Amino acid sequence: MSLVTDFIVIGSGVAGLRASIALAESGADVTVLTKDKASESNTEYAQGGVAVVLSEDDDAELHEGDTLVAGAGLCDEPAVETLVTEGTKYIKQLIDWGTEFDREGGKLVFTQEAAHSRRRILHAHGDSTGAEFVRSLIARARQERTINLLPFANTESLIVEDGRCVGVRFLDPILRSPREVYGKAVIMCTGGAGQLYQHTTNPPVATGDGMAMAYFAGAEMADMEFIQFHPTALSVEGAPRFLLSEAMRGEGGILRNVQGERFMSRYDQRQELAPRDIVSRSIVAEMRRTGSRHVFLDMTALDAEFLRERFPKIDATCKQFGLDIAKDMLPVSPASHYCMGGIRTDLHGRSTVPGLYAAGEVSCTGVHGANRLASNSLLEGLVFGARAGEAAVADSLKFGVSDFRLSEAPSGQNSQPISTAVKKRVKRVMWERVGILRDRGSLLRAISEFEQIERSNLGTSSRNFVTLALLVARAALWREEARGGHFRSDFPEQREEFRVHSIQKQGSDISSSPQMDF
Ligand code: FAD
Ligand code: SIN
Repeated sequence: MSLVTDFIVIGSGVAGLRASIALAESGADVTVLTKDKASESNTEYAQGGVAVVLSEDDDAELHEGDTLVAGAGLCDEPAVETLVTEGTKYIKQLIDWGTEFDREGGKLVFTQEAAHSRRRILHAHGDSTGAEFVRSLIARARQERTINLLPFANTESLIVEDGRCVGVRFLDPILRSPREVYGKAVIMCTGGAGQLYQHTTNPPVATGDGMAMAYFAGAEMADMEFIQFHPTALSVEGAPRFLLSEAMRGEGGILRNVQGERFMSRYDQRQELAPRDIVSRSIVAEMRRTGSRHVFLDMTALDAEFLRERFPKIDATCKQFGLDIAKDMLPVSPASHYCMGGIRTDLHGRSTVPGLYAAGEVSCTGVHGANRLASNSLLEGLVFGARAGEAAVADSLKFGVSDFRLSEAPSGQNSQPISTAVKKRVKRVMWERVGILRDRGSLLRAISEFEQIERSNLGTSSRNFVTLALLVARAALWREEARGGHFRSDFPEQREEFRVHSIQKQGSDISSSPQMDF
């Protein structure tokens, strides 16, 4: 039996929770479907913090300027301006809602991260900023009696009627069968797709489902080739690629190769605080030069007590692998971390399909351009989550839930998790051929392999996963240049004619657009 609600939000990270609160504040009923327990998301694992203009020596223009430089000529300025100016308001609101950022003597403390010209990163419990976001946003959402959060409700596809998105199909965790829920609008907040790669900092839920669902519903996808690889994921045989926050370099951590040499000055004068794409490629070059599988993050010059207090979670996790962050050289190598591209949206989270909105990592507002500035995404989730919720309410005033037909027909979907064999194969090919360095040959081979997988008999989730891999690989093949997170070894320079966003839509060839808004 189908469910009917006012609004459907998919995902319960920062963007989904903030959008749900905005929707509920209008008095509407909000159904939040989320794949795992409510707290399981990229947001939960965010470490370094949130970038925000709040300190006395900072201003919005400086934050905007740093974001534009990191974005390598591809940020949409109105989106960046919205982020940095409205960001301050939303962070103040979050503090009013009970979010506890770290303070000294009652005053907020700001840390430094790469490519920021000011110390503007707020953090919580040292290195557990994301968990504090989730805690306080879930507590705030619980105050809204019209929010109904359904955990373990894996969503696999969107329902589009007469060109409008009117609902979703999900796997009912209690009935254990596919079910439909209808509403006036769907806000997609399913986060990123780090799991497309063999090595990733992202948790298992980050398989990019929302991007594939939107693509199959007819939405335009933008800038899918831009994947951010974080330079410093723990690299210990058999251990998950746990993130060693950029804030560790911000506080004075140094990168050394396996011969003990500090090497970043060979690649960039900003050394360890150069933008992430540059540090990641420099590490790869150094690993190749020295024939090693990792480099080292060296924190030993810093005070041990300070380190344990500032990075308690990292300290505890490294200890599990026999590493003391204050005494040992920490083996690190890059891992996939963040998707700059996603569902094309305007500044209010509207996708190109009426009734479908997107916010957070699943979306592409143009705010990150070709490379996201560190700690800008928690802020993005707040600002654009709220804006998408508000826009959905305003746009749907004329649209009643009874205006669409409730389909009672069985979905005919093959509801299964992504097949382990498909996942393993796609992740390996993505890492080896669509990774930190790509070229025409590697991309063509990857595309041919993905097309072969696509032709096999796949369940919906597996089909979504391999389609996403194809979207990244095809856009990477199209962009014959090196810019931000996308580095083509066969086109190692930035090219002015590619200062445009790539746009992909089902049934059409790749096109381009100078701006994200439409
Ligand atoms: P998420 O937080 O990933 O939430 C997505 C939600 O969608 C989850 O609840 C998930 O379960 C759900 N979902 C997914 N698929 C489905 C489906 N099919 N059906 C139903 N539900 C689904 N950014 C910063 O700004 N500062 C940092 O310090 C920082 N540190 C980071 C550290 C790590 C280890 C990682 C992985 C990321 C970090 N980031 C950081 C990036 C940032 O955490 C994310 O970009 C941001 O939290 C994304 O928020 P979101 O709400 O868009 O998605
Ligand atoms: C980190 O702490 O290094 C992650 C910050 C981010 O991805 O923004």
